[in-house]
Amino acid sequence: MTSIDADNIECRQHQLICIDGQGYIDRVVDETDAEFETVRQEAVAGDKLISLNPDEYILPGFIDLHIHAPQWPNAGVALDRPLNEWLDVYTFPMEAKYRDVEFAKRVYDDLVNELIANGTTTALYFGTIHNEANLELAKACVRHNQRGFIGKVAMDNPEETPENYRDASAKVAVEQTEEFIHQLEELNQTAMVKQTPVITPRFVPSCTPELLKGLGELAAKYDLPIQSHCSENDWENGFALEHYHKRDSEVLDQYGLLTDKSVMAHGTMLNQSDLTRFKQRGVAVAHCPISNVFFGDAVLPVSKLLQQHNKVGMGTDISGGYSPSLYQNIRQSVISSRMLHQGVDPELSPEERGTDNQQITAKNGFYLATVGGAEGLHLKTGQIKAGYLADLQVVKAPLTKFEDESLDQTFEKIIYQATKHDIKQVFVRGQVAKG
Ligand code: GUN
Ligand code: FE
Repeated sequence: MTSIDADNIECRQHQLICIDGQGYIDRVVDETDAEFETVRQEAVAGDKLISLNPDEYILPGFIDLHIHAPQWPNAGVALDRPLNEWLDVYTFPMEAKYRDVEFAKRVYDDLVNELIANGTTTALYFGTIHNEANLELAKACVRHNQRGFIGKVAMDNPEETPENYRDASAKVAVEQTEEFIHQLEELNQTAMVKQTPVITPRFVPSCTPELLKGLGELAAKYDLPIQSHCSENDWENGFALEHYHKRDSEVLDQYGLLTDKSVMAHGTMLNQSDLTRFKQRGVAVAHCPISNVFFGDAVLPVSKLLQQHNKVGMGTDISGGYSPSLYQNIRQSVISSRMLHQGVDPELSPEERGTDNQQITAKNGFYLATVGGAEGLHLKTGQIKAGYLADLQVVKAPLTKFEDESLDQTFEKIIYQATKHDIKQVFVRGQVAKG
């Protein structure tokens, strides 16, 4: 089961997915192809055939395009305050604990294991300001065969960050980001699944202009991915307007932080000129539908982004979002889009509310969690076809079937009903990660 575009999937049965020695899908052979039986026999002879039970299906592994690894212990708690208070009261104190490397090791091993169990084969992580802990996250990814994109969080603004959890200066933050780039280079020399460093200004309010400038220059020097939060809510956008007399996307752009390797989380308050800028620069939005219910102040109009060909993927935003499962986030994305369509004033027609045609489908959500994420990270993954990475999940149809159903219906049932217990095996780059 694989997306062919944002609205359509392709479901095929009785296929051989052949994986080469580098972990890429070499070819997909259909039962009706003349070579099918020979290829199958060869695989059996080499003891390389993995066969599925009749109620099991292969989907591409999911890409979590925005997650805060250190917030894992807070997942499912502390959702009662607005963003700026939530950061001060719950989140910064939790992240400050990662100066303790042993704590980091324990949490990160558990988190990566849980994400793999949920079918997430690639994740774009925020770490903390602490490189020793960030390196533990990278090692956990290597141990569990997960492809991590990992950012040392940079945040130096004394006005918006606590004394016990901030970079000592812009200079130190940039130096330590560069140090982390080299630490991952070294780790990758022996890793099967490679880890990528990401330039990570937390968001405009927590960074000084010097830091934003330094990080923009570093991203250009090493041609690296960039991640941040952008236009998540009124408070954040208001901060940029007050301090820079610009929208926050303009501030990030000014410092070279909006490139075709940038992934900006949330974006619920992006206006049309921001979206046009994102499109021009090739910036991807990480849609975090569960988190947005609590902190986002608005619903991201996903169907509009898809229609205008803005890049958009899906993130859990642990722990702003409580669930590590992209299945849960796909479901919430559909639910939220229907709320957006229905709006709050039943007297008004959808056209009058300006929110008509906003519903998205399970297929749209699945596209975000696979193809959208892959595009955001410039990865050849997220689809089951020749030339793509063999990042795959084997999922058992979750509920009893009482009558014949089409493959499209089975797909929908998987998207709406599957839990991690239905995910029987996970492969990353052809390597077993689960099962
Ligand atoms: N903005 C800045 N930091 C954070 C964070 O940790 N979570 C969310 N949701 N928004 C942020
Ligand atoms: Fe976030």
